[in-house]
Amino acid sequence: MVEVVGSDPQYDRFADEFAEHARDGLYNAHYDRPACLDLLGPVAGRRVLDVACGPGLYAEELVRRGASVIGLDHSPRMVELSRQRVPAGEFRVHDLADPLDWLPDASVDLVLFALAVEYVDDRVAALRELRRVLRPDGALVLSRLHPTGDWLRHGGNYFEPRIVEEVWSRGWRVRFWLMPLERTCEELHEAGFLVERLREPRPAAEAAHLDPTAHARLLREPVGFLAIRAVPDPRR
Ligand SMILES: C[S@@+](CC[C@H](N)C(=O)[O-])C[C@H]1O[C@@H](n2cnc3c(N)ncnc32)[C@H](O)[C@@H]1O
Repeated sequence: MVEVVGSDPQYDRFADEFAEHARDGLYNAHYDRPACLDLLGPVAGRRVLDVACGPGLYAEELVRRGASVIGLDHSPRMVELSRQRVPAGEFRVHDLADPLDWLPDASVDLVLFALAVEYVDDRVAALRELRRVLRPDGALVLSRLHPTGDWLRHGGNYFEPRIVEEVWSRGWRVRFWLMPLERTCEELHEAGFLVERLREPRPAAEAAHLDPTAHARLLREPVGFLAIRAVPDPRR
């Protein structure tokens, strides 16, 4: 039997709680978002595709910085929350297992794919679609769980991709892929991207008071997230 995460929109069950948690929480607001926004660079006047947009926290900031945003997520509740938060954005329910047939080739300047690649079974197919809709001079910014942290929590064979289930501190049950870093880089390569930069972020200094223990650990240990900027390979 082939193992899959499948198409159940897991985040639908705790979308509102996620929105409240990620709005100003250490991991999202002061660790992942600053890293990805920095890798995206200036966005004013750019058309940004926010893939797995969640409750629209990125979209809100991107619009504030002058971008026009198209967001997608397979959780209907997340899409509803994005629409409420960012009336200027266009959002739609879409499962990354399906082709982006509603978006023409080379129709967006930047793609953001934050903290969601772990939930996708056929990642190369999804990344190929992102490559197709991205302009040749555009860039993809992707963040994911740091594989070292995954391996420290789960042990076993670091190099063997596999699906795990975790129950996070708020009781959210999540099912996702563990993959070595090499696998993410190879999948980007297979989909026609060149990795341009890889960041292992540190949390913002001013966020230490939110969770001093986690903050101090993230400053020392690769147990949180990492972020990659990749560009379309002009040879392919
Ligand atoms: C950890 S949240 C990240 C949300 C947002 N990118 C952020 O960083 O604030 C993961 C998101 O991925 C979405 N997601 C998971 N699997 C998906 C899929 N197959 N297609 C589209 N969205 C998916 C979830 O619904 C959820 O909103």
